[in-house]
Amino acid sequence: MHTRDANGSPSTVLVTGGAGFIGSHACVELLDHGYEVIVVDDYSNSCPRVLPRVERIAGRFVGAVYELDIRDRRALSAVFARHPVDAVVHFAAHKAVGESARMPVAYYDTNVGGTTALLHAMHEHGVHRLVFSSSCSVYGDAGEGPLDEAVPHRPTNPYAASKSLCERILADVCRHDPRWSVLCLRYFNPAGAHPSGLLGEDPHGTPDNLFPYVAQVAVGRRQRLRVFGGDWPTPDGTAIRDYLHVMDTVEAHRIALDHLADATGFTVFNLGRGHGSSVLDVVAAFEEASGITVPHKITGRRTGDVAELVADAGAVARAWGWRPSRDLADMCRDAWRFQQLNPHGYQGSSPQPGAKE
Ligand code: NAD
Ligand code: WQD
Repeated sequence: MHTRDANGSPSTVLVTGGAGFIGSHACVELLDHGYEVIVVDDYSNSCPRVLPRVERIAGRFVGAVYELDIRDRRALSAVFARHPVDAVVHFAAHKAVGESARMPVAYYDTNVGGTTALLHAMHEHGVHRLVFSSSCSVYGDAGEGPLDEAVPHRPTNPYAASKSLCERILADVCRHDPRWSVLCLRYFNPAGAHPSGLLGEDPHGTPDNLFPYVAQVAVGRRQRLRVFGGDWPTPDGTAIRDYLHVMDTVEAHRIALDHLADATGFTVFNLGRGHGSSVLDVVAAFEEASGITVPHKITGRRTGDVAELVADAGAVARAWGWRPSRDLADMCRDAWRFQQLNPHGYQGSSPQPGAKE
C-alpha cells in the first residue's frame, strides 16, 4: 500500500487500540509517513490523553477518534461507513497472560470475538487489508534457540491461545476468499518509549510486563522488582526474552502497510532482534540508563513462564529489509525518560510544564 490512493488522496488507516502502548506509537509513525489515521479504542487499558500527545509529536491531527468496543459490530460498521478506510491495523486486545488464565472467556470474547467482529465490519464495507498483532507467546515452551515462523504453536495460556486462534481464522479466511490480504506480525517483547518522553507504556493497575514494572520501581512508585525465577537453565538463572524497541516495532507496521497492496493471502512474520536478554540483563541496563539502583529479589517462577524466547526474524529482513536499529540501552533510556517525565503515567502528569493537552 502507498500513502496515496489511486486518486491521489492520502491512504486512510483504521487503527484499533490506537491509544494503547504500541498503537499510540504506530499512530505517530503513520501520521509521520503521510497516512490519514482513524482510531478506535475503548480505553480499557489506555486513556484519551494519549492522542493529543500523538498529534503534538506528529504535528498533524488524527482524522477521528471513536470510543467504542470492537465487539460492537454496529458501532464499528458506522465508522467504516463514515471514512474511506483502505486498511486496518488491529492492536485492540487484552494482553495480560496471568489475567487470561483467570478470565479465559473474557479473553476469547475480546481477542477472538473482537477480531471476527472487525473482519465482519471490514468485509461489509469492502475493506480486506489487515495488519494483525500476534505474539511470540503462540510458540509457548518451544525450547532454546531462535524460533522461526514454522515452529508449531503450543500456547500455554488463554491469551496465547486466543492469538493462535485468530491467526488460524485469518489464514482460513484468506484461503477461502482471495480478496483478503493479511500480514500477521508476531512480536516478541516490545519495550521502550517514544524518544520525546511524551509516549510510553502506562498500563492500568500493576504492570505485568517487566519493563514498566522496572521503570515504576526506578521512579519510586513500587518498592522492588520480583524476579520470577533464578533457577532457569540460562547463564544467570533468570529467563531470557527478545526485547524489541517499540519504535522499531511500529516501523515494521508502517512497512507492512506499504507492502499490503502487493501482498495476497495470509503472511506471518516474527518481529524481534534475534538477541536474548535475561531479567538481570534488563535490570543492569536500566540501572545504567537511569543511574538508579533497581531493588530486586529473586522469587519463585511465574506460572506459565518459559526459560527462553528469542526470534529468528530473518524472514521479515529478507522480505522487506526491516531490521531493528535500536538496542536494549536505547529501550531503557527511552522508557526511563517517559517514566521520569510521567512518574504517575498519563493521568497523573503533564510532561512539560504549561504544555497543553
Ligand atoms: P495495550 O493494552 O497498551 O493496547 C491495547 C489497546 O486496545 C488499549 O488501548 C485498550 O484500551 C484497547 N482495547 C482493548 N480491548 C478493546 C476493545 N474491546 N475495544 C476497543 N479497544 C480495546 O497493549 P499493547 O502492548 O499496545 O498491545 C497491542 C497489541 O499487540 C495487542 O493485540 C497485544 O496482544 C499485542 N502484543 C503485545 C505485546 C507486548 O509485549 N506489548 C507483545 C506481543 C503482542
Ligand atoms: C519478561 C520476563 C518474566 C515481570 C508476555 C507475552 C508476550 C508479550 C509480552 C503480549 C519474564 C520476567 C516479568 C516481573 C519478572 N505480550 N518478569 N518480574 O511474559 O515474556 O511475554 O508479554 O503478547 O506475548 O507472553 O513478558 O514482560 O511479562 O516478562 O521477573 O515483575 O520478565 O518472568 O521472564 P513475557 P513480561
